This record gives sequence, structure tokens and C-alpha cells, in this order.
Amino acid sequence: MKIALLGCGVVGSGVKEILDASEQNVKITKILVKDKNEIREARMTTNIQEILNSDVDVIVECIGGIDIPFQYIRQALQHKKHVVSSNKKVLATHYKELVNMAKKNGVILAFEASVGGGIPWLENIRHIKRIDHISTFEGIFNGTTNYILDKMTSKGVDFQIALQEAQNLGYAESNPIDDIDGHDVKYKCCLTANVIWDTSLPLEEILFFGIRNTKKKDIIYATQKNAVLKLTGRAVKVDKRIQILVIPAFLSSQENMAHLPKNLNYGKIKSEYLGESCYIGQGAGKYPTAHAVVQDILSILEKRKLSPEISKEFSIERDYVSHFYIRSQRVSSLQNFVSDILDEETVLTKNVNLLELLPYIDKDTFIAEIRL
Ligand code: HSE
Repeated sequence: MKIALLGCGVVGSGVKEILDASEQNVKITKILVKDKNEIREARMTTNIQEILNSDVDVIVECIGGIDIPFQYIRQALQHKKHVVSSNKKVLATHYKELVNMAKKNGVILAFEASVGGGIPWLENIRHIKRIDHISTFEGIFNGTTNYILDKMTSKGVDFQIALQEAQNLGYAESNPIDDIDGHDVKYKCCLTANVIWDTSLPLEEILFFGIRNTKKKDIIYATQKNAVLKLTGRAVKVDKRIQILVIPAFLSSQENMAHLPKNLNYGKIKSEYLGESCYIGQGAGKYPTAHAVVQDILSILEKRKLSPEISKEFSIERDYVSHFYIRSQRVSSLQNFVSDILDEETVLTKNVNLLELLPYIDKDTFIAEIRL
């Protein structure tokens, strides 16, 4: 089987190394690079048309960003090439169009590497779904933010230093705002929910919060409460509605998820017959992500059915009632919701609907759910 690689950055170069060393019947015959100066081998080109019109069977998109990869994935599907992508932003944003386009053209659209890095996350979901009904998933789906919060907790380092380390290690997105503001986890939760419940959720309706404003005092609060701060994503199916939310949370240190170190990811599924099953692994980085991409390529070679279905419609349940920790300069305006005042800028809320708090949350607010 012949493969074209679009992009040869962190993930693309990992895929190239693994496949070039592999003895499988899979060969990279074309590699798209951005600039003529990057061309170092005969199979490299800057011309996407040359790739689309070639005899490659699978196009692997490892470019990053949104507009250009979206165009290339569409063109690849229209040229009846199977597509493997790790690009959660493109996939979650244009899910319905791309899944339908793959179906119409009789090719596979596979995206294991887009969620959970090297964990076989979607693979396990497909496995469970064959005989079971999944009601809930939750987890830690961003390696960069887990690395930052873990470093802040275990070594007491500042947010910016931990972020820089995560960037140096190749975990962060090219624009790390996607990581620290929660967009990345939103894409991953949306894709996970779509695959689990055979649907295409409206991405723009998913509520999400990030960790950009985390300070040492929030970490100290966690330690005092025998808790750990993590950026979590979760979804629950309730009849024809999906409750889905991305939010930092103070987790009890009794919970497995609270002990997840470094850039690891964690996902938990609840289903009727299997009960709870949990998956842990490398959530980001060159080789774990490349590993997941190569697994998809081999599954295509084996003619496995990887493409998702869109056969059901769900609306998003935005009501979410819980206790929250809020640090804000506007804390006095929250008095109707407050149960405890921790200091002049930090409060704990009563059991309240998160929607009621939204008008009081601005770009400098730190909000976390209390799950203790
Ligand atoms: N920036 C992402 C993360 C990469 O840190 O999890 C893997 O999706």
C-alpha cells in the first residue's frame, strides 16, 4: 500500500521514521513539504496536486492548523484516497461534512491519533460499542495542561515555565492557546462523543474552560484539601441529550485520575455490560502520536471498518449543577451564589447551575469544579 504524508513536522517525521523502518507492506512514496528548501529526497514535493493525482492509496494529514488541512482532506477524499489525520481541530469542526464525504466516496476517514495520543482510545470505544451501550466518558485528554498542572503541583514551578517545558518537549499545539484555554479538549470530547453515540454534535455549543489563569494559590488550595487540580473533559448521555463539559476540577486524591503524571492522558468509559474501563497512556508527543497514525494505516491495510457513522441526532444539555471554586476581581458580584469566602478574590459556590455563573466569568477568572 502506498502512502502520502502531508507535513513532516513533529508527528509527520515520527510517522516517516516508523514506516521507513517497518517491514509491513506499506511504503511512503510522497511527502508534501511547505517550502522548496525543505526538499531533501526524491519523494518530497511542494505540490499537493502531484500527490492527489498519484497512485497513493492513503493520504496522512499531519499539517496542523485548520484551513489548509481541511482543504487537503476534502480533496483527498474526493480523489478517493483513504485519509488518516491527527488533526482534532479540523475533524471536530468539519465532522459531518468530512464523514459524509468519506462515505460518499467509499473511502475511510480514520483519526485514532486525534484523541488520547498513543492510547488506543477510539479503537477501544469501537470495541466496546460492538456489544455494549456507553452512557458516559470522562478523562484527561490534554498532555500539555496535565504536564503544566503536574509540574506546578509536584515542583512548585510557575505556569509559564511549565508551559515552556511542555512546548520544548513537543507536546503543545503550534498555538498553545488551544491547549491552555481548553479548545483542544473540547475538540477531543466532541470527537469522542460523536464516535460513541454515532452523531455529530454542534461544537460551538460545548461549554469549556481552561487553565490559563491558574496560580500557585489554587494549587495550594488543592493540596490543603487533599485534592489535585486537573483539566477534565466528560460527557453523559441522558435520553436524547448529551451533557458535555470541559472544566478544571479539584479531584479527590483517592481517585485514579488525580494521580496522572506528566503528559499522560486518561480516559474512562462506563457501559452497561462492561461497567467501568479505564485507559492510560502517552497523550502527546512525536512517537506516541505517530504510533496511533501508523495503527490506523495498518487497520486500513487490513480493510477494517474504521469510519464512524452519523445516524443519530442529539442536542447538547448545557445545564450543569455543581459546586465551583472561583477566583476573580469581580467576586463581590457573585454574592448570591457563594457558600464560603476564601479570601478577597476567591470564593466557593453553593450547588449552582454553571449557566447562571457565566455572566460573571471574564478572561481573568479562574473557575474549577469541586469534585471532592
Ligand atoms: N497539544 C496536544 C496535547 C497534543 O498536549 O495533548 C496531542 O493532542
